[in-house]
Amino acid sequence: MAASSSKTIVVQTTLGPQRFREMPNIDEYVEAHAERFEEELCQLLKIPSVSAAPEHQGDIRRACYWVADQFRRLGFVTEVVPTAGHPLVYAESPPVPDAATVLVYGHYDVQPPDPLEKWISPPFEPTERDGNLYARGATDDKGQMLTHIKSAEAWMEVEGRLPLNLKFVIEGEEEVGSAGLEAYLVEQAQRLACDCVVVSDGAQFAPGRPAITYGLRGIAYYELRLAGPKRDLHSGSFGGSVTNPANALARMLAALVDEQGRVRIPGFYDDVVPLTDRERKEFASLDFDEKAYFEEIGVRGATGEAGYTALERRWARPTCDVNGLWSGYQGEGAKTVLPATAGAKFSFRLVPNQDPEKISAALKPMLSELCPPGIEMELIDFHGSPGVLVPLDSPYIAAAARAIEHAFGRRPVFAREGGSIPIVTAFHETLEADVLLLGWGQDDDNTHSPNEKFCLADFHRGIKASARLWKELSEI
Ligand code: BES
Ligand code: MN
Ligand code: MN
Repeated sequence: MAASSSKTIVVQTTLGPQRFREMPNIDEYVEAHAERFEEELCQLLKIPSVSAAPEHQGDIRRACYWVADQFRRLGFVTEVVPTAGHPLVYAESPPVPDAATVLVYGHYDVQPPDPLEKWISPPFEPTERDGNLYARGATDDKGQMLTHIKSAEAWMEVEGRLPLNLKFVIEGEEEVGSAGLEAYLVEQAQRLACDCVVVSDGAQFAPGRPAITYGLRGIAYYELRLAGPKRDLHSGSFGGSVTNPANALARMLAALVDEQGRVRIPGFYDDVVPLTDRERKEFASLDFDEKAYFEEIGVRGATGEAGYTALERRWARPTCDVNGLWSGYQGEGAKTVLPATAGAKFSFRLVPNQDPEKISAALKPMLSELCPPGIEMELIDFHGSPGVLVPLDSPYIAAAARAIEHAFGRRPVFAREGGSIPIVTAFHETLEADVLLLGWGQDDDNTHSPNEKFCLADFHRGIKASARLWKELSEI
């Protein structure tokens, strides 16, 4: 066989253990193909696969097939699975008998790009600036998800095989609640059976400080609609004699949280797993610069639940936030109107072991009681999902720490995250598998905001870490 043929490399599976551990060929492959990997990421980022927008249905399909094609090219058994919502991709690497099985999860859907005028370069024209790639979905989650596909490619091309069994589930509905995948997971639990789940859909602790995330918050999301008079009224002629839905909404929402920043829903804190002293010490020992944090987001001074640090509030305490608010006149100047309706979207971030259903059951009567006479109220209960905590003393975590150190040159810190990945809870419960949350992003990546970005060096380190992870997990 010619020395220059890529097949020659495949034969090198008989390398001595020392050399094999260093994985020179795989790291070299990742470095040699870095530019093409970036080009492929750009291809995917150009597809506006916005799951929330019906007009992007075609783009959702295109992104889905783009992902499926990646697996087909690797020779993986690949399926595009229709769901009640958007399709998902399921793929399996060629079987490696007696080796561990890892399920990799990611999502190809993205958040809507608005407000468009705030983007420096258009959201679906990926643009490099200062070593970062700017585009909607760059970090959440197309770039991070692709690291695991490219690491699988590196193994297949260099060694001809992976050292373990990989199953991939890449969905198109994460940003809208993962309903399709949830049904698929229940139906196909047997098929998805695995030793552990790997997810890269979050952030490192700080630049140069990689992290393993061991906790995610859950969520309970609602819309409240209030209706008063049957039409908008003159606020002078009628004001004072009629309950104003906008006033009522403001009162009702304000009543959800007290002066101490504590949610007032009865029983809200009953099941909250408190921070342990050890955890509080560990959070405090992470050199988190509160001042720089507030400066970066442009706010003065901290608020939140009394008695907790900013990091504790973000990672390990529940919250209530209004996400959207509408009523009355929004145009220029003044209009003296008493609006007929008002509405809000609001959500609670939950921590382990809070149950979103219990929260809903207590929220409804509380709002009914707060709702003043003259107002009809409707509460819509959207998605809910509990938070998750992953045990830190597992061999999977140790393997992930070694893989990250190999690629990032530094041992990871153990962190929690304020965000939610609802399906992770379902994986944990349905598959009874440990979940490795290995975020390659940064806190200032502008996820869900204009000018979302992903650091290209982190993209390549993520691929290297992932490639090394397959080796480390195969040796447990
Ligand atoms: N990747 C995020 C979740 C995330 C954010 C994890 C920050 C770690 C750090 C995910 O795509 C997301 O946005 N999730 C939603 C879930 C919601 C739609 C149910 C969230 O957290 O708001
Ligand atoms: Mn995500
Ligand atoms: Mn997201």
